[in-house]
Amino acid sequence: MEKFIIKGGRRLEGEVVISGAKNAAVAIIPAVILSDEPCVLENVPNISDVSISLRILFEMGADVKYIGKNTVRIDATGIKEPIVPYEMARHMRASYYFLGSLLGKYKCARVALPGGCYLGDRPIDQHLKAFTALGAACAIDRGMVDAQAEMLLGSQIYFDIVSVGATINAMLASVKASGLTIIENAAKEPHIVDLANFLNSMGADIMGAGTDVIKVRGVKKLKGTTYAIIPDQIEAGTYMVAAAATKGNVLIKNVIPKHLESITNKLEKIGVNVEEFDDSVRVSVDGPLVKTSIKTMPHPGFPTDMQPQISTLLTLAEGTSIITEDIFDNRFRYVDELRRMGADIKVDGHVAIIEGVGQLMGAPVTAPDLRAGAALVIAGLAAHGVTEIDDIYHIERGYEDIEEKLRALGADIVKKNIPGAAVRKAL
Ligand code: EPU
Repeated sequence: MEKFIIKGGRRLEGEVVISGAKNAAVAIIPAVILSDEPCVLENVPNISDVSISLRILFEMGADVKYIGKNTVRIDATGIKEPIVPYEMARHMRASYYFLGSLLGKYKCARVALPGGCYLGDRPIDQHLKAFTALGAACAIDRGMVDAQAEMLLGSQIYFDIVSVGATINAMLASVKASGLTIIENAAKEPHIVDLANFLNSMGADIMGAGTDVIKVRGVKKLKGTTYAIIPDQIEAGTYMVAAAATKGNVLIKNVIPKHLESITNKLEKIGVNVEEFDDSVRVSVDGPLVKTSIKTMPHPGFPTDMQPQISTLLTLAEGTSIITEDIFDNRFRYVDELRRMGADIKVDGHVAIIEGVGQLMGAPVTAPDLRAGAALVIAGLAAHGVTEIDDIYHIERGYEDIEEKLRALGADIVKKNIPGAAVRKAL
């Protein structure tokens, strides 16, 4: 088992290049199944969620070849069985995108119920609602989701709640259906637009992605394409917060500043300077950090995936900050860990009240999930003394080369293999 060991208190300075977006990559990789020809994906982040997605394709019979560190050629035309077993699906929430893409291509899919970060109850009723509206019969049988259709027919799909995953699955399943599908109350995240752009580059006819009504006119064939995945908005936001928490000065490169607006806006309220350029932002701090209130919302609101990181920053700010988590029921699991580092945070249901303490102290902590893990890295970078973070496999699901990138910015962070840790965990 591996740990990060961070000696805190160093200002982050220099430049960091942001990788491709995890949540776009894990949708686009299964979407290659819909193509009738090979595809080349560029700017693919080198993270474990991507390796698992590629492994699933490979196990189903696709030809998957890395032709550069972040470039993959995928020929999914040789898929034998549209089945994703439990051993593969359990590692990752996004394995449910194989349902939409296999159903869209083969009119049948059998995929184990997904795993991923435990953030509270994460039902898939809206995904199944979309498949059913398109004419598929869906059932859950011994942990597997079965979806089958004689033919998929364009339809009107109205989502009861805004769901990133259900919007993506509705697009994947309808792109080759007969006729027009109208997806209403759709999610608007940048990765939804990226998936639509990818599918359109293969010859799909999708309009309105990025608004709450997406229109998909089904096409018969999709051709091969070469496509570069957008930069990761959350990885960028995480480095922005890390720069602020260490009172550093960092140029964050390969970003789309528009995607960062809600994060930039809150950082500025906290007293952080953010300068925007065409494809980079510079983050620096030259005054005190101050309290603010944040409520997480679907895009373009403040992203839930940045809530743990910005809450960590607010433990260092003056005054009382209030965080309302409106997307997931259980996204304050990092709070107990931050308390071990000296944070003063009270949680009442969906609300966390943070009393700024100015300074955190290093301590041994455990990453409970991906973004919570990133928050603990930020806490460790800003803290006095040494922080040891266990269960870093969560962090490696979504951050490419995080320790190398932080070290290049001046952080004192190393990854250590702790042989006893696995035994301790098993006891
Ligand atoms: N929901 C339902 N029914 C559904 C689907 C969702 O009730 O059928 C609820 C969820 O329980 C949640 C809300 O709707 O309360 C929003 O969930 P959504 O479906 O939008 O989330 P997701 O697709 O499961 C994706 C990202 C998450 C990110 C959320 C919100 C991927 C693979 N995951 O999850 O990313 O937090 O959208 O933006 O894209 C992360 O990267 O760390 C991460 C957790």
